[in-house]
Amino acid sequence: MRILYVVGTRPNFVKTAPVIGALRERHPDGRHAIVHTGQHYDRLMSEIFLEELGVPAPDYMLEVGSGSHATQTARTMERLEPVLADEKPDLVMAPGDVNSTLAAALTAVKMGIPVAHIESGLRSFDMTMPEEVNRIVADRFAEWLFLHSPEAVTNLRHEGIPDERMHMVGNTMIDTLVALEDRFRAAGTAARLGAEPGSYLLVTLHRPALVDGPLLGETVAQLAALAQQMPVVFPVHPRTRKMMEGLEPDAPGLHLVEPLGYLDFLSLLADAGGVLTDSGGIQEETTYLGIPCFTLRANTERPVTLTSGTNTLLGLDPASIARIPVLMAERGDWPLDPPPLWDGRAAQRIADVIGAQG
Ligand code: UD1
Repeated sequence: MRILYVVGTRPNFVKTAPVIGALRERHPDGRHAIVHTGQHYDRLMSEIFLEELGVPAPDYMLEVGSGSHATQTARTMERLEPVLADEKPDLVMAPGDVNSTLAAALTAVKMGIPVAHIESGLRSFDMTMPEEVNRIVADRFAEWLFLHSPEAVTNLRHEGIPDERMHMVGNTMIDTLVALEDRFRAAGTAARLGAEPGSYLLVTLHRPALVDGPLLGETVAQLAALAQQMPVVFPVHPRTRKMMEGLEPDAPGLHLVEPLGYLDFLSLLADAGGVLTDSGGIQEETTYLGIPCFTLRANTERPVTLTSGTNTLLGLDPASIARIPVLMAERGDWPLDPPPLWDGRAAQRIADVIGAQG
């Protein structure tokens, strides 16, 4: 069994780490080659994650870096092709919905190599979102679709994908969270940053629809106003940092910090009073942890977090940030009942499926 894992961005590492672990354990004599595309490259966006997650050093670093969608995707394809030609894997495993995922799926399928897609079947039905295009392409060409959410089955059937290719295995991102729980619960990151557990709003924002235009200025102004009522802790993604130049307000209570490693981030998340985000993964992590989540987007590809979780869709409307304290008070506590198979064992199920059919 020769498996090649393609990862490139922060959330990719989190989703793939347990799968690499489970398959290496199941097939110790197999070849498990890791390709890091280099889509994310700063230490705080990449290396620290691999270290904390115990992912072995990548076998290949493609160093594609930043660029337009076409540049980033094309560079990845061009640099991945010779690796696949040399490695001749039986399977290329690609997680998520980023440009590295798209490039991996296209390169492998063109070479006749089967693709496995982790986190398959999510749809926002918003084609202006780059990730939606990436998801559709990866799912169309993958032979093995690993699902973690009930609506994924309906979405994929609508696109004519046969049931035989779908495997409901659960959420590998939650596997990682479960595996790290003792460590992040002991990390005490909020206290280290001077924030009192339970008191603050944790903020992460990086989607182009929000941060690449005038909405970012309005959002920062709303956060500065909210910070007068409750402390706001905002680890700033490099894309957002670049777009925020000249916008940083001097607002006591609004703490803009560097991107955090995963243990520190999960510690802050678990101790937050609430979370404001436009990330996909954080909607899931807060649902699992029972932390109120407010999503500053017009839609979500993860509706299960609205129906069975702690997520509230605010719309793509910075003015809605002012409503967060009231919404938090109204909703009260959530019963903790995460979606089925978000239980820390998804990667083992992936290994079972591959073992049975591979
Ligand atoms: C990418 C994914 C997005 C995912 C996010 C997770 C696509 C289309 N987007 O968005 O789906 O939610 O990763 O974080 O694949 N930069 C740095 N250092 C880095 C990485 C990026 O400074 O290590 C800066 C660069 O200015 C770059 C910008 O961030 O141009 C955007 O990076 P990019 O990887 O293109 O997209 P993300 O916004 O990170």
